[in-house]
Amino acid sequence: MSKRRAATHPCLVVCPPGLESVVSDELADLGIRTLRSSKGAVSADMTTRQLYAANVFLRCATRILVRVAGFTVRTFADLERRIAEVDWDDWIGAGDSPRFRVTSRNSELWHDGAVTQRFEAALGTPVEGAREQLVVVRAVNDRFTVSVDSSGAPLHERGWRQAIAKAPLRESVAAGLLVAAGWDPTTPLVDPMCGSGTIAIEAALLAGGVAPAAGRELAFRFWPGFEPGTWASVAVEIQKRRTDAGDPPPIMAVDRDAGAVDSARANAERAGVADLIEWRTAPIAELARPDGTDGRPGLLVANPPWGGRLAGGDLRNLYATLGRVASEGFAGWSLGVLVADRTLARQVRPGLTEALQLELGGRQAWYLTGRLR
Ligand SMILES: C[S@@+](CC[C@H](N)C(=O)[O-])C[C@H]1O[C@@H](n2cnc3c(N)ncnc32)[C@H](O)[C@@H]1O
Repeated sequence: MSKRRAATHPCLVVCPPGLESVVSDELADLGIRTLRSSKGAVSADMTTRQLYAANVFLRCATRILVRVAGFTVRTFADLERRIAEVDWDDWIGAGDSPRFRVTSRNSELWHDGAVTQRFEAALGTPVEGAREQLVVVRAVNDRFTVSVDSSGAPLHERGWRQAIAKAPLRESVAAGLLVAAGWDPTTPLVDPMCGSGTIAIEAALLAGGVAPAAGRELAFRFWPGFEPGTWASVAVEIQKRRTDAGDPPPIMAVDRDAGAVDSARANAERAGVADLIEWRTAPIAELARPDGTDGRPGLLVANPPWGGRLAGGDLRNLYATLGRVASEGFAGWSLGVLVADRTLARQVRPGLTEALQLELGGRQAWYLTGRLR
């Protein structure tokens, strides 16, 4: 980015709906103050270094957009003039292919396709095989906001999850569950219904100080205005966090389905943390504490089935068994349960606190937490 540019970039951090407060806390840890929060997004001004660091270190975000222009227009002629005024050379490389995602609401220029066409006429159409640079255009009440995506592939696609069991959580949501339960990554963690292992793997990466997007081809690295020196200082921090991480705590992932445990372990191997996790195949009724806790309490976090083949009494029994096993074997531990039905959560344990209200795959979900006394 050129010297002419302001010291900070106006950014929008997109995240799964319900994780806004968690993302704000993550930003605060990076020294970035949240300006506003709306459903599925948090806005903040970031320096170039903060933008790079946020892409690399945020665990709960989907992508970070940088606003490059904002204007009010009601005619295509004015739109074309405004498009021509933007300093695109900072953001789109010569061989790169811009892809425009346009949404217009309540505006004179209401036709998304016609607006896209004006951008493509100025900057080119997507070229097969070329690297894509996403440009997001939003018009609301004739006010246009034009942003470039600094992330590339969604940040929750960490790359290690290829084997998928039933109803997997996004990696960003799994990380959010750990943070929202206040998990201290030096303490034990148990996921008794691990499926493809997302929660336990995210926990092991967090405990190991591994930056979730280290080694990824983040979009900003291909911008003509990319600052290698600034990036080098973020790269040093990536390494420092790894070396500063203490010994990993006991982390255990259990599922009654041996196939799920196999796929979870294969994912963990790709993530480089398979040896840090204790794997067990067992039903919830047989859940026991992991090895090596030395009596230290930790977090028991469960993402039980929401229905599927189980229904009515069977589902109630499953949730009640989880509650019984948790009280009998995990006194002093924290508990986190992700549910789609709050009355079922009462089967687990009455009096849990609503830590997060999420929207997962278009469905409402609640994350309830509490302490097992
Ligand atoms: C919603 S999935 C978990 C998904 C997981 N969080 C992920 O990201 O892949 C629920 C899991 O609970 C497991 N399960 C169902 N009943 C169980 C029981 N009685 N004991 C242990 N695991 C059970 C299923 O095999 C399934 O893998």
